[in-house]
Amino acid sequence: MNLIENLKWRYAAKAYSNVKLAEEKVDQILEAINLSASSCGLQSYRVFVVSNPEIQKKLGADSYNRQIESCSHLLVFAALNNMSSSYIDNYMAMTEKQRGLDAGALSGFRNGLHAYFNAINSEQKALWAAKQAYIALGTALIAAAELKVDATPIEGFNASIIDEVLGLKEKGLHSTVILALGYRDLEKDYMATMKKVRLPIDEMVTKVY
Ligand SMILES: Cc1cc2nc3c(=O)[nH]c(=O)nc-3n(C[C@H](O)[C@H](O)[C@H](O)COP(=O)(O)O)c2cc1C
Repeated sequence: MNLIENLKWRYAAKAYSNVKLAEEKVDQILEAINLSASSCGLQSYRVFVVSNPEIQKKLGADSYNRQIESCSHLLVFAALNNMSSSYIDNYMAMTEKQRGLDAGALSGFRNGLHAYFNAINSEQKALWAAKQAYIALGTALIAAAELKVDATPIEGFNASIIDEVLGLKEKGLHSTVILALGYRDLEKDYMATMKKVRLPIDEMVTKVY
């Protein structure tokens, strides 16, 4: 099965070559992200794509992850700070339009969302939004593997630096996780020849049939 072979091929690359990714591949990964599932379908995060050595250097300051500056493209998954009523209303209006429904057809669902988000505090909302970004990260990792693009999910970064450099606060966003994309440097990457370590499947999975 090609998918499993590609997932065995992928690993979290530690060093990147200076070969740039074709824009077409970047766009396919971004489209896969946009097709990710999200809670209530609200897509509570935005993705910033950075491919600029100077900016990448700034983003990677105060991080041990050299991949931030050496990768071809860096994706920053930025979650919404607040799931506001107006965001929900706009999203519902977009859904009605894309599905050819009458305006207000989704008012029951919309009211349920308002009630749910009014009942949780801002910390819970930000956490909920960030969880959705991690689902997108997983989709991006699989998409990259399918395209034979190397990728490194990264939590080891200074979020306040990234938020500042990309002006995320003003946009009502905060960085949650980032993803380096590019091509592995076989000579410099100590991880490239390491065996992939995983639990035996039956230790991880319990089938209840
Ligand atoms: C949310 C998340 C954060 C991670 N952060 C880092 C990181 O900061 N630096 C790094 O080199 N790898 C990071 N990794 C990669 C993991 O260490 C790696 O996925 C794990 O060891 C399994 O190995 P594999 O992905 O190479 O198969 C992260 C992975 C995930 C899912």
